[in-house]
Amino acid sequence: MLERLQKIISAAGITSRRASEALIQNGQVAVNGIVVTELGSKADPSIDTITVDGKALKISAQRLYILLNKPPGYITALKDSQGRPLVTDLLKDVADRVYPVGRLDYNTEGLLLLTNDGEWANRLMHPSNEIEKEYHVRVRGKVIDQQLKRLAEGVELEDGMTAPAVVSLVKSGEQNDWISIAIHEGRNRQVRRMCEAVSLSVVRLKRIRYGTLALGTLRAGQFRYLSEAEVHQLSGEPIKSPPYVKSARLDKSDRPVKSSRPKQSGGKSSGRR
Ligand code: URA
Repeated sequence: MLERLQKIISAAGITSRRASEALIQNGQVAVNGIVVTELGSKADPSIDTITVDGKALKISAQRLYILLNKPPGYITALKDSQGRPLVTDLLKDVADRVYPVGRLDYNTEGLLLLTNDGEWANRLMHPSNEIEKEYHVRVRGKVIDQQLKRLAEGVELEDGMTAPAVVSLVKSGEQNDWISIAIHEGRNRQVRRMCEAVSLSVVRLKRIRYGTLALGTLRAGQFRYLSEAEVHQLSGEPIKSPPYVKSARLDKSDRPVKSSRPKQSGGKSSGRR
């Protein structure tokens, strides 16, 4: 099927649609050996050889959509100069290279999505989609109502005011309280910086929900494949590019098992609050 070059390049997970346009305009892209600089140009990835900087695009026939429960002490980059563990180290038996959708800090844990579908990832991360992400934060000592109120209304950070958030006290303990913060922005270290701004010291930070998708009962370090319904529901659009997805279910040992029928899961516990 003929598709626009920038779409093919971004779907291959190389870079965003806009950055792909720049690659084309800079003369870095060739189709069957001929450099193409015109933005409307199309190609058929199943027939044509498309190269970026002389390297052939690897177009995966299989789209992969993964939900990982990231443990603390892993980085979401694909390589690390300090040799720290990578989240992709946890994806044993995954047939193709996948990329994190956004990032979580080294010590943040919880729900991380990974995919080789660059278009889908871009849609999820686009600010206009305002997908809500919910975090549970363990803070040192006691939280007071005034701090919750300020977090909910928005706090001043060095890169501007934060948008209103949904904030509540989840659990109160002897030494620490747990609060829930749901935000739709995705600024760097946003939750940690919001907490700092109201003098709360973060002891633990865990993402428990991404839009309609809840972390559920996955243990730290384990992952599962999303069902087709979950993929569509998250991005709010049908997947146009064939073929869908490896689907899987979890057996008792929580290891992903391939199945021919996508199983719908996660919907019940994932509602907005
Ligand atoms: N907010 C943070 O501060 N860190 C994360 O990893 C995610 C959100």
